[in-house]
Amino acid sequence: QGPALVDGFGRGVTYLRLSVTDRCDLRCVYCMAEHMTFLPKAQVLTLEELDRIASAFVALGVRKLRLTGGEPLVRKGVMELIEALSRHLASGALSELTLTTNGTQLAGFAPRLAAAGVRRVNVSLDTLKPDLFRRLTRGGDLSKVLAGIEAAQAAGLSVKINAVALKDDNAAELPELIAWAHGRGCDVTLIETMPMGEVEADRTDQFLSLRDVRRELESYWRLEDLPLDTGGPARYVRVAETGGRLGFITPLSHNFCEGCNRVRLTCTGTLHTCLGQDDSADLRAVLRAGGGEAELIAAIRGAVDAKPRGHDFQIARAAAPAVARHMSTTGG
Ligand code: GTP
Ligand code: 5AD
Ligand code: SF4
Repeated sequence: QGPALVDGFGRGVTYLRLSVTDRCDLRCVYCMAEHMTFLPKAQVLTLEELDRIASAFVALGVRKLRLTGGEPLVRKGVMELIEALSRHLASGALSELTLTTNGTQLAGFAPRLAAAGVRRVNVSLDTLKPDLFRRLTRGGDLSKVLAGIEAAQAAGLSVKINAVALKDDNAAELPELIAWAHGRGCDVTLIETMPMGEVEADRTDQFLSLRDVRRELESYWRLEDLPLDTGGPARYVRVAETGGRLGFITPLSHNFCEGCNRVRLTCTGTLHTCLGQDDSADLRAVLRAGGGEAELIAAIRGAVDAKPRGHDFQIARAAAPAVARHMSTTGG
């Protein structure tokens, strides 16, 4: 039995998304409910536990590690964790160590991230309008994110912008956001809103199909299909007029699960084998019962073996969220 992790449908799992905290300094309306109860500290994995689990995945052939949250940069000691994990970059076991961040604290972290071997970061940014940003994030300050992006680029990191497409909020602004990002050398990925966890906002009203967005963009830009990438969900095009790359993540309008290469670990050590299903394994229990790498590996293999074929997200007024947990606990 070789090290490679392969699921029951023959898909290789080479990418781990590691949520290091369920907390965030923003509260995006599609991500969190207005009043969220955050996890008590005792339930959250220590930095050492996070490292041990991530390293077990690396031993199993995972090549790409992405820290998420909540907001990964609000986790105390996150830089020490990243610096420790960078040993797997140095050994060649990992090809990429990266994070998805809301950018508010990126200005302070960028140089140290770059020094630790991080090459690029994905920054979530849905609008360039300060007032709309404040409303969507329930109080966030856009200028901090813009400063974070600038500092990241100054430190030599590539920045990709992730924007959730929201019908009444940023739909009309998307071309401007894309042109702005491309003008700064940033790729952009648009994301369809997914029904995870109850929020106050009505996701049916907010939902915007990226098929429609693409059609609209094609009425004034030339979008050139790029070859399918490395198993990620995004389908990329090059915008001829801006020269930049634009990705579409379309779980609702076009399912991409057949090529899925990833699993997710929450900050409490629950391994979720699909973003849109409840299938999981409790790796914290394995560790806290005294298990070592062999026990972790056995639990991981068992969970990956039962990885579901795909999500069954539905955006319909009558449909309850596909899963009860919020995006902020699973890390996107
Ligand atoms: P790259 O490494 O730049 O390709 O990034 P990525 O797409 O792997 O990571 P990122 O954190 O930028 O992901 C953007 C968003 O896409 C996530 O937050 C999710 O909302 C969505 N997404 C990523 N992977 C999946 C997946 O497997 N299924 C679904 N339904 N959505 C996903
Ligand atoms: N649907 C789609 N994307 C979401 N994100 C948060 N909640 C949702 C949702 N319900 C996005 C964030 C960020 C990434 C981690 O997940 O905007 O880009
Ligand atoms: Fe925080 Fe990201 Fe969720 Fe917004 S989407 S509340 S930035 S974790």
